[in-house]
Amino acid sequence: MSVKDEDLDKFAQQLQNQIMEQIKKRYSEVVIDHWQNPRNFQKMENPDGYAQVKGTCGDSMEMFIKMKNQTITECTFQTDGCGTTIACGSTATELAKNKNFTQVLAQVSTEAILKNLKGLPQEDVHCAQLASDTLRRALADYLSQKKSPWKKHYRKI
Ligand code: FES
Repeated sequence: MSVKDEDLDKFAQQLQNQIMEQIKKRYSEVVIDHWQNPRNFQKMENPDGYAQVKGTCGDSMEMFIKMKNQTITECTFQTDGCGTTIACGSTATELAKNKNFTQVLAQVSTEAILKNLKGLPQEDVHCAQLASDTLRRALADYLSQKKSPWKKHYRKI
């Protein structure tokens, strides 16, 4: 490695450290952990409920749920959004697991996601809203399929 390469590596490392310091000032450790190690960040084959929602900022989130006896046994997500959106989706999927329809509506709100993440800057609150909305729509999709099972065959996943 030449001296110039070493300088470049050192500069890149310093820059990365500075960026991380800025991120730590804005976000809690929980947010950073979910962002760097997202839980349930994958598509699901043959979900019982599915939704794709576009947020106010233009980012979108998909959510997939598996149900057993009216309870969510698995919940996964995908998003093209930023780190905060990933942290919110990850938290929502964890909160949703092993909850029934009523419990999800009452306990996996935007506020609950924010509380779990130990807060977000005001400009990122819509990311939690997107995760909460997507989960609710996936549940609505599950309920609508129960009433009209043939709909499942026409869904595009
Ligand atoms: Fe768009 Fe997070 S910045 S949903």
